[in-house]
Amino acid sequence: MCGIIAYIGPNSALPRLVDGLRVMEYRGYDSAGVALQHDDGLWVRKDVGRVAALAERVVGGPTTHSGIAHTRWATHGEVTEANAHPHLDGDLRIAVVHNGIIENSTHLRTALEAEGVTLRSQTDTEVLPHLIRKYYKGDPVAAVLEALKQARGTYGMAVLFADHPDQIIAVRNGSPLVIGLGDGESLLASDPQAVVSMTRRVGYLQDRELAVITADGVVVQTLAGNDATLNIETIDSDYALADLEGFEHFMLKEIYEQPRSIRRALRGRLQLEEGNAKLGGLNMDPRDLLGVQRLINLGCGTSYHAGMIGAMAVEALARVPARAEIASEFRYRHPIIQRDALFLAISQSGETADTLGAMGEVITKGGTVMGVVNVVGSTVARISGRGVYVHSGPEIAVASTKAFTSQITALLVCTLMLARTRNLSLSEGQAVASELDSMPEKVREYLENPGPIDQAAQWVAEASYVLFLGRGFSYPVALEGALKLKEIAYIPCEAYPSGEMKHGPIAMLQKNTPVIFVAPRDGQREKAISNLREVQARGARVIAIHTEGDTEIAELADLSIPVPSCQSYASPLLTTLPLQLLAYKSGLLLGRDVDKPRNLAKSVTVE
Ligand code: M6R
Repeated sequence: MCGIIAYIGPNSALPRLVDGLRVMEYRGYDSAGVALQHDDGLWVRKDVGRVAALAERVVGGPTTHSGIAHTRWATHGEVTEANAHPHLDGDLRIAVVHNGIIENSTHLRTALEAEGVTLRSQTDTEVLPHLIRKYYKGDPVAAVLEALKQARGTYGMAVLFADHPDQIIAVRNGSPLVIGLGDGESLLASDPQAVVSMTRRVGYLQDRELAVITADGVVVQTLAGNDATLNIETIDSDYALADLEGFEHFMLKEIYEQPRSIRRALRGRLQLEEGNAKLGGLNMDPRDLLGVQRLINLGCGTSYHAGMIGAMAVEALARVPARAEIASEFRYRHPIIQRDALFLAISQSGETADTLGAMGEVITKGGTVMGVVNVVGSTVARISGRGVYVHSGPEIAVASTKAFTSQITALLVCTLMLARTRNLSLSEGQAVASELDSMPEKVREYLENPGPIDQAAQWVAEASYVLFLGRGFSYPVALEGALKLKEIAYIPCEAYPSGEMKHGPIAMLQKNTPVIFVAPRDGQREKAISNLREVQARGARVIAIHTEGDTEIAELADLSIPVPSCQSYASPLLTTLPLQLLAYKSGLLLGRDVDKPRNLAKSVTVE
């Protein structure tokens, strides 16, 4: 989603800002812009489309020492140059870049217009520079604080004053900002990846804090005016600049990284002899685990699908009632929070506004919530305090692949711990631990020989509708397969539990409609075969993802994609792989921008 980068120091700001914008491209955006201190004023350029277009446009721009820049993902107002950030006050002397949403912007806009202010864009953000201007009497901090008293909503913002080119003001409320401290130069970004090539010394601004950033350092205070401290840490080497390592796209690279990323999610956690696992970050001993009487997984999109799989595994292996909930719905339905319930907030980015909102609701009602997060130091991780890092490493492609399988892996490890305190004997626990331990190798084995994905992609790319079906653990996999295909190839498709097909979606089937059956060998296999025959009777083409050696399904299907054999709770780690490849290859056939699909953002920081 939107990205912020700011620089102040002895070097030329412009190339550093453009590099920072490039790094954040993976987050998804539709326009970009930059504002630099220049002569006695500000120099501003914006463009619709890719950062590359902006980069061309600013060639020969001024060599000055402070500036702010932004990639915008439209929320309020269309994708136009006028709506791109930075936004300026009427005198063009105060520039603001902003992530988040100013919820009362309509009211503020009307009030400003009544005072004679002319606004140039349709955005919620533009009220900020005008409000700051209104309260500016020579003290930038006082003006920003006064303006923010009027604004309601979420913000991570950077402000550059033409009158004060030696400082950048940053404020955070619900939208992440990281400050990078280099040698005589400082940076600000909404994403640590954007600062890491320049410095590894960073500090995360907390909610309702304001920072005055200069080339020599930073001074932080709260919005209430109290002193605050920025905790400086050295950023993890995981954030090293992303490299394609010979792959054509990040999505493909990340798909093929899964044997390693799943191994990382398991490393140091499985206790093979004890038939158990240890997740230090949960800080729960067996007695605490035994106290958990229900588990609720919260998440959005792919993370919600991982949560569904995790909840099914907990019910199957630990016999603890468990469910997954879509975070954006959960937060607004006045949920019942019980003392003996454990909530897990699942998020790759750790910055998803809906998931943070759902966590907030749990916390307000006195519940216990922990994070299952990929990005270290992200907001979910920090506000939950306890939880599990999934350690998939930075995921650059917008569509989540390796983070999904790492989330599932981490949830299965949690399941083993819960199950061992009640339903699983030592030998059963050992069997689960050893099954999980074997999964990275099985994933590698499948990826080495992925089956006829090219043919499947050909059928899918030609189709106007695709149906994904699965039962039990394979239903969330079907949902995830359909989500990936929509995201990457923009092909209309949907996923159903196989048994529901005859209750409606069967009407969509015609000759050659591709139907993707996720049907590994499990308790539901016989039923899956009946559904498969029903589909074929309507002339549809069946692409079956099944356990290798299952000759009956292989022979029935129009296209057979075998995956290695495993226990049903672990099967999503394998059956999801062909669906990721299918989406990727279908997207390529249709000429899509697979790493940066249209309209999507990597971390969705607005509701
Ligand atoms: O960062 P999160 O895991 O919280 O993100 C949740 C969803 O926005 C995300 O999974 C989304 O569905 C992806 N585009 C999936 O590829």
